[in-house]
Amino acid sequence: PLLEPLPSIPALYSCIGISIFAFLMTVYLIPALGPAFIKAGLKGHDLLKTYRFEVPIPESMGLVSASVYVLSLICFIPFAFSTPIRAHANVKNAKEGITVVEFPHYQLSVYLSSILGLLIATMLGFLDDVFDIRWRHKLPIPIIASIPLLMVYYAEHGNTNVVVPLPFRFIFGNLINLGPLYYLYMSMLSTFSTNSFNILAGINGSEVSQAIVIALSVILNDLLYLPWPIGFRIPLHLLGNRTELEFGGAWSAGMSYGSRELVERHLFSLYFMLPLVAVCTGFMYHNWYPARAFPGDTLCYMTGMAFSVVGIQAHFSKTLLLFFMPQIFNFLLSCPQLFGLVPCPRHRVPHFNPETNLLSPSTAKFEKPPNKLATLILRLFATLGFVKLTSDSKTGKLTETTNLTILNTFLIVLGDMNEKSLVKTLIGTQIAGSGLAFFIRYALAWLVYDG
Ligand code: UD1
Ligand code: MG
Repeated sequence: PLLEPLPSIPALYSCIGISIFAFLMTVYLIPALGPAFIKAGLKGHDLLKTYRFEVPIPESMGLVSASVYVLSLICFIPFAFSTPIRAHANVKNAKEGITVVEFPHYQLSVYLSSILGLLIATMLGFLDDVFDIRWRHKLPIPIIASIPLLMVYYAEHGNTNVVVPLPFRFIFGNLINLGPLYYLYMSMLSTFSTNSFNILAGINGSEVSQAIVIALSVILNDLLYLPWPIGFRIPLHLLGNRTELEFGGAWSAGMSYGSRELVERHLFSLYFMLPLVAVCTGFMYHNWYPARAFPGDTLCYMTGMAFSVVGIQAHFSKTLLLFFMPQIFNFLLSCPQLFGLVPCPRHRVPHFNPETNLLSPSTAKFEKPPNKLATLILRLFATLGFVKLTSDSKTGKLTETTNLTILNTFLIVLGDMNEKSLVKTLIGTQIAGSGLAFFIRYALAWLVYDG
C-alpha cells in the first residue's frame, strides 16, 4: 500500500520559525523582567564575585525561559498536526469520496502529556526556588510527573522488551521483557535528569550550557534519522570488525512502517529540542560571566524534564543517557554527600579568592571523624585524583575533604582558574562527552549488540 507523504516535514520549518521567535522573546524579556523578579524577592548573590554582597541578581529567571518554551510548544500544536487538519477539511469540501486520514490521536496525546510533564517540572522548580523544598519531598515529584508520559507509552506500544547485550545472551536469550521494571526505570530517568543539572551548578553559565550541549547532541542524533535526499554510509574498521553505518536516504513510498515511525519519533524530538535550544541560548546571553540573571532551580528542572520527555517518547533513553556522562559522573561523585555519609554544606561551589579572582576547590569539614565506609570511599576517590583529603597529623583521622563535585575535581586536576575558564572547561568536557557518546552509540555498539 502507498503511504501518504510524511506529514511532519513542513511542520519542521514552522518549528524553526517559532524557535527563532522564542529566542528573541527570551533575549528581550529577561532584562525587561529582572527588576520585577528582584521586587518580588526573587534575587540571589553571585557568590564568586567581589561585589557579591552589594549587587542583587534576579534569581529563578529560568521561569521566563520555561514560560516562553511551553507557550512556543503550545502554539506549535496546530502546525504539528497541519496535515491531518487539512485532510479533514478536504473531506468536508469534497464532492466525491477522498480517503480520510485517520486523525493521529496517539501523537496528540504524546504531545499533550509531554507538555503536562514540562509544566509540572516548571512548577516544582519554581516552588523549590521560593520555598527551598527538602530533598526527600522533592525527589518523588518528577516520578509522579512522569505518570502521564508512561500511560501514553503504555497505551500505544507498551514495549518493555530490551535487547540483551551479546555476552549475556546465553543466559537471558535475545530479548528480555522487563515489564514494570522498565516503567520504574523510565520514571527514575526523569528524577535523575531534573536533579542532575541542579547539582552541577553554582558558576555562571553552568546550568544552561549543559542543557544547550545536550540538546544540540540530541538534535544531531535526530538529524541522522531524517529522510535526507541523499543518504550516506560510513564504513568502519574497528578492532578487525567491519561495519557500515548508514544514515539518511531518500524518503520513499516503499519505506517500511518501522522506519517511518522512527522518522516520526525523531521529528517529535526535534520539535521539543529546537525551541529548547532557542530559549536556553537566549538565557545564556544574560547568564554568561558576569551573570545578570540566575536560572534558579526552575531552569534546571524544566530542561531536565524536556530531555526525559524526548528520551521516553522518542524511545532513545539509552542514547540520551550517554549524553549525560558528565552529569552521571558528578552524581556518583556526589553520592556520599547527598546521602549523608559526608557532611554537605548548603553551597558546594568552589572557593573564591577576591584578591586573585581565582577559584580553588572548596572543602567540607568533619565535625566527627567519618565512619569506615565514608573513609574507604573518600580514600578511593583521592587515589583516583577526584578529591583532596586533609588528615590529622597525630591521629591520622580525616579532618577535611574537598566538596565532591566535578567542578572541584577540575580545579584539583587543572589547578586554580577563574570562573570563566572553569565554565569553559565544563562546556569542553560536555562536548567531549557527547563526542564519546556518538562513538559508543554508532561505532562500538556492535561489540555488545548485533546490527
Ligand atoms: C545546588 C547545589 C549547591 C550549589 C548550588 C548553586 C548540591 C547538593 N547542591 O543547591 O551545592 O552551591 O546548587 O547553584 O549540589 N549562584 C551563584 N552563581 C551562579 C549560580 C548560582 O553564585 O552562577 C548562587 C547564588 O547565590 C544563587 C544560588 O547559588 O542564589 C542558587 O542556589 P540554589 O539553586 O538555591 O541551590 P540548590 O539547587 O539548593
Ligand atoms: Mg539550584
